[in-house]
Amino acid sequence: MDDKAQLIIEGKTYELPILTGSEGEKAIDISALRQENGFITLDVGFANTGSCKSSITFMDGEKGVLRYRGIPVEQLAENSTFVETAYLLINGKLPSEEELTRFSVLLNDTSLVHEDMRHFFESFPRGAHPMGILSSMVNAMRAFYPEIPERSEEEEINVTFTRLLSKLRTMAAMSYKISRGHKVIYPRHDLNYAANFLNMMFDSPVKPYYIDQDLVDALNIFWILHADHEQNCSTAAVRLVGSARVNLYAAISAGISALWGPLHGGANQAVVEMLSDIEENGGDVSPFIARAKDRKDPFRLMGFGHRVYKTYDPRAKIMKKTCDLILRKLKRHDALLDIAQKLEDVALEDPYFIDHNLYPNVDFYTGIVLRAIGIPLNMFTVMFAIGRLPGWISQWKESMDDPGWKLQRPRQIYTGLKKRDYTPMKKREG
Ligand code: CMC
Repeated sequence: MDDKAQLIIEGKTYELPILTGSEGEKAIDISALRQENGFITLDVGFANTGSCKSSITFMDGEKGVLRYRGIPVEQLAENSTFVETAYLLINGKLPSEEELTRFSVLLNDTSLVHEDMRHFFESFPRGAHPMGILSSMVNAMRAFYPEIPERSEEEEINVTFTRLLSKLRTMAAMSYKISRGHKVIYPRHDLNYAANFLNMMFDSPVKPYYIDQDLVDALNIFWILHADHEQNCSTAAVRLVGSARVNLYAAISAGISALWGPLHGGANQAVVEMLSDIEENGGDVSPFIARAKDRKDPFRLMGFGHRVYKTYDPRAKIMKKTCDLILRKLKRHDALLDIAQKLEDVALEDPYFIDHNLYPNVDFYTGIVLRAIGIPLNMFTVMFAIGRLPGWISQWKESMDDPGWKLQRPRQIYTGLKKRDYTPMKKREG
């Protein structure tokens, strides 16, 4: 088999190595191109550029496949918990019973947040978005907790990861309580990761929170589906910032900031806002479909389309099922689900959406599940961040362990003015 690609530039042929991934996807290695002939490649948005080799997550956007460490996400959503999936992503294997117990105990042991950090929380204005708070607080963690020293023992590294996984969840619940002016609820040692989170969010000194196992299960599924997604915007941010060898907390804080955007993790909030907007306008989806198709209108159907998936997002399928199940179990009806279903039916029959390969993505139904759990709208993207943390950690770890590690520094095609002289103030026109 030919393992070289040929590139002809100005009559000269260059041979470029071809790499093949474990699932057969192919790439042309252009890393020596500029050195050999002065050319770079241009790929705005990196839609066709691999930035690393990774053994964590496999996606096939044409077939709608998503696997963590080889295991289909459908099987994990059916059988696993978020904690076990986090272990799988970070360590590359499913844990034994003893390993899982040790990991869970460590998560509980490290769940408290330094009391001095509360002063920071309390200084944010009441209406501050929790994503901004979370990103700042994770960055601030470096001042309170030790960085992973060079050549650390495996155990020490794992404690740092576990501490971050555990405290991010505590901080997320704290930021919610403080934003409402309510008493902070501390984590409990007798509760598992998801139940503990729900309790910290919703328990109160005047009304104890009843933990519903169905909600715990739905939350586990939500977090499993968000746990990793190869080189998406926030993960790429974690890797890029991490490539400058900043500490783990600063790299994760960059990931949280990237996730905040409405084209990325912020879409789950934007979907519910859009569905509510449709509801307030009488429930007719057609004007919204028309706007999404209008090139002159910047409006997009939120929760539709994906850079990689050109078919139904496999996570959206599971989320839709979870959505039906949880509403049925809670014996609750959500008008937004009817609107979402109507929107999906119309869009999937519309030539614009068919031609552009636009299908529901994970965010389309997650908002309705989060609403059913009781999560307020401004916390939706924080929920995504908690879920994506094992992915960010494992991708950061993989990049740090990579013997071919390099500072990430893209090039550009300069399109500005040619060299010109500085004009003294008095001689400037206009
Ligand atoms: N509604 C209407 N048109 C769309 C949409 C949409 N949601 N998404 C893409 N298009 C059109 C776009 O206008 C363009 O049309 P044309 O070629 O005629 O000019 C074409 O499809 C390609 O768009 P693009 O922006 O170049 O495609 P992309 O691969 O960069 O976009 C996306 C991916 C997710 C940013 C985009 O589909 C989008 O903005 N979706 C809405 C936001 C959203 O739901 N984001 C969550 C993504 S999944 C969660 C996650 O992993 O972060």
